[in-house]
Amino acid sequence: MENKELIFDNNADILIERADLTKEPPAEEPYRQYWFIKKARELIKAKSEELGRPLTSSTVTFGCQMNARDSEKLAGILERMGYVEVQEEEADFVIYNTCTVRENANLRVYGRLGYLHSLKKKNPHMMIGLCGCMMQEPQVVEKLKKSYSFVNLIFGTHNIYKFAELVVSALLSDHMVIDIWKDTDKIVEDLPSQRKFPFKSGVNIMFGCNNFCSYCIVPYVRGRERSRNPKDIVREIEHLVADGVVEVMLLGQNVNSYGKNLEEPMTFAQLLQEIEKIEGLKRIRFMTSHPKDLSDELIEVMKNSKKICKHLHLPLQSGSTDILKVMNRRYTKEQYLNLVERIRAAIPDISLTTDIIVGFPGETEEDFLETMDVVEKVQYDSAFTFIYSKRTGTPAAAMENQIPEDVVKDRFDRLLSKVQEIGRDMSSRDTGTVQEVLVEEQNSQDPHLMTGRLSNNLLVHFEGDTSLLGQICQVRLDECRGFYYMGTKVG
Ligand code: 5AD
Ligand code: SF4
Repeated sequence: MENKELIFDNNADILIERADLTKEPPAEEPYRQYWFIKKARELIKAKSEELGRPLTSSTVTFGCQMNARDSEKLAGILERMGYVEVQEEEADFVIYNTCTVRENANLRVYGRLGYLHSLKKKNPHMMIGLCGCMMQEPQVVEKLKKSYSFVNLIFGTHNIYKFAELVVSALLSDHMVIDIWKDTDKIVEDLPSQRKFPFKSGVNIMFGCNNFCSYCIVPYVRGRERSRNPKDIVREIEHLVADGVVEVMLLGQNVNSYGKNLEEPMTFAQLLQEIEKIEGLKRIRFMTSHPKDLSDELIEVMKNSKKICKHLHLPLQSGSTDILKVMNRRYTKEQYLNLVERIRAAIPDISLTTDIIVGFPGETEEDFLETMDVVEKVQYDSAFTFIYSKRTGTPAAAMENQIPEDVVKDRFDRLLSKVQEIGRDMSSRDTGTVQEVLVEEQNSQDPHLMTGRLSNNLLVHFEGDTSLLGQICQVRLDECRGFYYMGTKVG
């Protein structure tokens, strides 16, 4: 068997070529998947010759950055099978990578499946696949089986690494192929992927969550917390850097508890220090941080780092200690505010963002005012505000004192306007300064303008051309317009 140290991305391509289709598929991963990618290539080539045109694929992502990264793997595998990627959903293979964190996400998927059905009626070769968090809910799969029988393939979050094998099963079957696992302790490395941006990439450092916040479905659909081996993470980033990446976003549901379940335990702060050493890597971001696990060691490492961006996403969820207790967040209002104080004392120019839920069962007007008070005190650069959504199977869904819709809506509106008012003020605080930006895209409305991202995650538009893409430039922030800047490149 090949030396594991040698495998990565382009090497995956070499190993796909080497797969021997005259033999049975190997049992060992990821070689097994390489074999199935090559097998799919044969099937797709034959179909394409029969139809006299290339076959197309479309990967559609719902939800968080974890899903976005998973989708890059799905797209990379489809591409290596011989599908030509297209943006629109009028394709021969459409895969929806779903989210179920709020009810709305599920409703959107059902809605769009109706549209896909109409496309499939016009193109009988069309294959439809569904994966991701929503598929881990048994009642969803039941509903799909009953009312959406035109779907070809359904799988969940734990066996996404088997995508190639599942596609081959679906291509060879005229029934719906369903493969959902309850949990896994397996982490399969070295699957091919196709990055959305050449110069930045998400990197999973851990999977799953052990926190069981009482409103949240994630621990049930993503399973128990598993950290990747630090050597595998560093090796992946080194290869990404060799391939042109300058910024990584380390991904995990709760990055601050990274490393606890490793054979040789390691803290997240220690992992960051290892990643900092990677030559050629310019910026490090991460999400999400749980306030209860954010250590002084991490604050110190962030303070001394040249590469870690000056941005921390620190979900508050509620400002009321009573509600936080029922949410099972395991911190109080005072502990949260104290943590923010320590972070700001060490890193004064850091930008803080957050997630807040309004209308959690039992939330009184007083509880809500506590949340408003924290928002006022912390002065977030921005905040994602969510209306509480009942997720079947979570403890909060069974709580009796659910809040009436009109009360929630009124609180939500008040919170949103407060968050926006503060965000606008906070965003403008660097006006007149020169900052480093990573140039990410050409402005879609005005092609003379390029868009860059500041260390604190805000965007700035400035005159330039596409030769700057992926570069770090010095830009003067001339004027803040709400939540972004207009600037001038000075170096
Ligand atoms: N209802 C509303 N918002 C939720 N979130 C998680 N679960 C729910 C729910 N049941 C929010 C939290 C989390 C973000 C990703 O989604 O604020 O931080
Ligand atoms: Fe959900 Fe809480 Fe885990 Fe975040 S930390 S994924 S909110 S259970």
